[in-house]
Amino acid sequence: MAQLIPVEVFDLIIFGGTGDLAMRKLLPALYHRDRDGQVVGDSRIIAIGRSALSRDAYLQDVEKSVRATLVDGELGAAQWAAFSQRIHYVQLDAVAHQHWGELVELLRGREQLTRAAYLATAPGLFGPIAKGLHSNGLVTANSRIVLEKPLGQDLASASEINNQVGACFAENQIYRIDHYLGKETVQNLLALRFANSLFEPLWRRGAIDHVQITVAEELGVGGRIEFYDKVGALRDMVQNHLLQLVCLTAMEPPSSLHHDAVRDEKIKVLRALRPINAETVGKYTVRGRYGAGAVDGVTVPSYSDELGGANSDTETFVALKLEIDNWRWSNVPFYLRTGKRLKSKQSEIVVQFQDVPHSIFPEQQFNVKANRLTIRLQPDEGVKLSLMAKEPGPGGFELRSVSLDLSFEETFGLRYPDAYERLLMEVLRGNPALFMRRDEVDAAWEFVDGIIAGWARSRQKVESYVAGSWGPSAASLLLDRDGRAWHAND
Ligand code: BG6
Repeated sequence: MAQLIPVEVFDLIIFGGTGDLAMRKLLPALYHRDRDGQVVGDSRIIAIGRSALSRDAYLQDVEKSVRATLVDGELGAAQWAAFSQRIHYVQLDAVAHQHWGELVELLRGREQLTRAAYLATAPGLFGPIAKGLHSNGLVTANSRIVLEKPLGQDLASASEINNQVGACFAENQIYRIDHYLGKETVQNLLALRFANSLFEPLWRRGAIDHVQITVAEELGVGGRIEFYDKVGALRDMVQNHLLQLVCLTAMEPPSSLHHDAVRDEKIKVLRALRPINAETVGKYTVRGRYGAGAVDGVTVPSYSDELGGANSDTETFVALKLEIDNWRWSNVPFYLRTGKRLKSKQSEIVVQFQDVPHSIFPEQQFNVKANRLTIRLQPDEGVKLSLMAKEPGPGGFELRSVSLDLSFEETFGLRYPDAYERLLMEVLRGNPALFMRRDEVDAAWEFVDGIIAGWARSRQKVESYVAGSWGPSAASLLLDRDGRAWHAND
């Protein structure tokens, strides 16, 4: 296992401390890092919530959440005692500007320490909280602020939030989260591309036919439907997670791992995306929404039923064909799809190489399959390279597609940490490489805004799909028109 370096003593203030993200992800992630010795000294976690809760009542909730993430369910008494004594709970209403005094008192005299404010709240609160921290004198030279997604609804609202937060914190103090960047396999993409000389000469037009990125979920929208209905799959998943995956797959080699070197290359990809507008949305995009069906043998209701039968124009599935207008990727389409209530939870990047230019196996010509590199993000993180081989036997010459298949878990024999474990440590360490710079967020919104405006102007339909399928048939047609097919549909 890579060496775990402790982070310097810190005060981490979690706004939205009683919310779903804090309970399900942030506090369990901090517990695991504490247990492994990365959290040291009198580092503290200050949870902020609007409800009046005693510290004991809050700790009970945290204990339950942490327990739920333990593989063996075992929460050692000593480990819990060490972790829980770091946790404080403060009641504060950032919008009503009430009760900042208690937080100010708690932080007094600790100005030299790393101070991070994690905003696990609705984006509408980002500006008011940043202002509250600033006007109460809580922004120190060692401060940073972490913004959860979604960062607005479009470029205009994202810019407003960025301006409000930017008035109180310098850009290098602002950490915009995309938790996909904290996933081990996503980072492994950098290792695969830039720590191996094998792939780089082939990572371009002329060798690659096209790229597919699938992020499929079995889960429906569930309890988030009120929020989700205003957002949809394009804003929820493509604007951030999928476009980040496109960037890491398509970017030029950065000169170093320095955060700006990587981010400078990623932004070039976003700026090279061919805009999709009202004239082209019909050809380049598909929108879908799940109807009733069965996932994993369990019957599930339709999106509309979950919404109580109300009318909605929100998509729970989107498929796109992207063109990247630069030398490396000219005429190499990137097909993206993501959706809820699909057949299985499966996220992968598939790099489809070109067919052999001439087959010397005339009787086998239909058996010669182009090579394919599959990077599995979840579940069973790993890399698979499909190759052609001769079937063993003394007679004839039969070809078969075989694969070199590497499962990271089997190879490294390790529990894969949750993305938030790494991201939180990077915030506290002051390394913004795995976070989005403002210009990246803006460029991604600009691209996505074009599609949304195109959908509105062309009145593009949301196609229905059966829950538990691979999405609407139009998604297959998107590739079929180009003589291609999605890979994971089995
Ligand atoms: C979140 C989206 O950002 O990512 C959710 O808001 C989605 O709708 C989730 O379910 C998927 O994350 P993961 O890590 O489970 O692939």
